[in-house]
Amino acid sequence: MKSIGFYVQYRAIFLVAGVLLAHTPAPAAPACGAPGKPACPLQSYMRTRLATALAHRDFRELERRLTQVAEQNPEPRKWHNWNKFALDGARAAREGRLRGVIAACARCHAIYRPEHNIKYRERKLPE
Ligand code: HEC
Repeated sequence: MKSIGFYVQYRAIFLVAGVLLAHTPAPAAPACGAPGKPACPLQSYMRTRLATALAHRDFRELERRLTQVAEQNPEPRKWHNWNKFALDGARAAREGRLRGVIAACARCHAIYRPEHNIKYRERKLPE
């Protein structure tokens, strides 16, 4: 049988641990892009600008917006293919090549979207 002091001591440790745990901040809830939250900045831009232009087969708008996407590269020193994909897409749009445009969307989404969404999702777009 342990002394009462033993249990008192342990109780104190649990209390302290409980207080510490209670004060550990929960992971921040996403401010955007989750159910009930507004779309994230680039997500909203993609939907309203690129997807709309693509749906309308508006090649002039696609060229303009894909050129703009290149300027929104969050890691211009590292993500060289971000610019390549966007500018290849802009060129395809200028030349009226729908499949080239769609390939640009698909390539960037496959290569950069996952990392972008981990690191830069809530980032405001450069003006
Ligand atoms: C150079 C990179 C790049 C190119 C090119 C690109 N996108 Fe995106 N797109 C992204 C990234 C990164 C996201 C993720 C943004 C987010 O969810 O916050 C995204 C997300 C989207 C979304 C939002 C999907 C959702 O979650 O609702 C749509 C729609 C979209 N893109 C359409 C297009 C179309 C159409 C094109 C081609 C005409 C295109 N994109 C070209 C990088 C690109």
